[in-house]
Amino acid sequence: MNENARFVAGTFEHDGVPYANAFNRSLIERPEIVNCREDDVFVASYPKSGTTWTIEMVSLIMNGGNTEINTSAFQQARNPMIEANFILPIWLRCIVHLLKFLKPILPEFIIKLRFIHFLLVMEKAGLESGIGLKQMEKLPSPRLLKSHMPYHAFPSQAIRKKCKIVYVARNPKDIGVSYFYHCSLGVPPLDYRGSWNDFYQLYVNDKVWYGSWFDHVLTWWQHRDDENILFLKYEDMKKDPKAAVKSIADFLDVSLTDDAIDDIVEFCSFKKMKKNENVNLSLAIGDKDKHQFVRKGVVGDWVNFFTVAQNKEYEKIYEERMKGSGLDFEW
Ligand code: A3P
Repeated sequence: MNENARFVAGTFEHDGVPYANAFNRSLIERPEIVNCREDDVFVASYPKSGTTWTIEMVSLIMNGGNTEINTSAFQQARNPMIEANFILPIWLRCIVHLLKFLKPILPEFIIKLRFIHFLLVMEKAGLESGIGLKQMEKLPSPRLLKSHMPYHAFPSQAIRKKCKIVYVARNPKDIGVSYFYHCSLGVPPLDYRGSWNDFYQLYVNDKVWYGSWFDHVLTWWQHRDDENILFLKYEDMKKDPKAAVKSIADFLDVSLTDDAIDDIVEFCSFKKMKKNENVNLSLAIGDKDKHQFVRKGVVGDWVNFFTVAQNKEYEKIYEERMKGSGLDFEW
């Protein structure tokens, strides 16, 4: 493996699982510190499973199909990822405020500089004072929160209080490819440097953030029949998004008209989400030409990346790990 391939912003390990340095280490080591409310709703997943898409659907369903909140703020501002821990240092926050003040007189090319633009986007979204635990505490109930933590390391209060949790799973080959692009977006901590082949080695050896896909998905799968857990699959949502919206609405005890369901499906379609600056972070930070956060949205893109040898190796591991689980994926 290429020793130079790495997550530039660094990682730390807990229980043998790597996490980005930008994550909240205290929360990862002690999930009981997360203050959960009984009416909190979570969307949980292994990264790149269609979490953003699911959150968009769940939030619209929770609001009875009203798009006002979704069109007025960044998803990350409305529905924080609880283990994220991004706080701009005070001096940078001062710069953000100065930039906001100077924006009307600054030349366009300065505003378009990637980092300046990023800071202004953070300010506009009200995120410059922090993402994560502090942010979620300020939100009114009922909150819709996001987490990629595995079941055994999930906020214990959420499990004890039986908060509703929508878990979305996706086939691990497409996740591998999507994860590679995600980690290579170029904004810290998404600043992996290396090729797909190097990333594959990290992925297959559980050395990416959140570790093994199998450990993650299978522990949640064991709880699929818990009354407060809804287990969905990305591939099913692609095939029949309307059925996904209906099952989430039933799970959340929300009744929706047929028209409202159609509107939610349409608002959350890949085409619409790709153009939506409130969910496609790449648009907001000005990376219109690079690969994007809302990228391809298909089942089976892995065939364009996995070599024959990689596929053979992965299939073998998949067979061994999934045997007898009753869980299967289309790819
Ligand atoms: P690809 O990189 O394969 O395109 P997450 O939100 O968990 O990070 O998952 C991201 C993946 O979901 C990306 O997959 C992204 O393109 C895809 N995605 C986002 N919105 C989608 C939508 N409305 N329909 C289908 N896929 C979507």
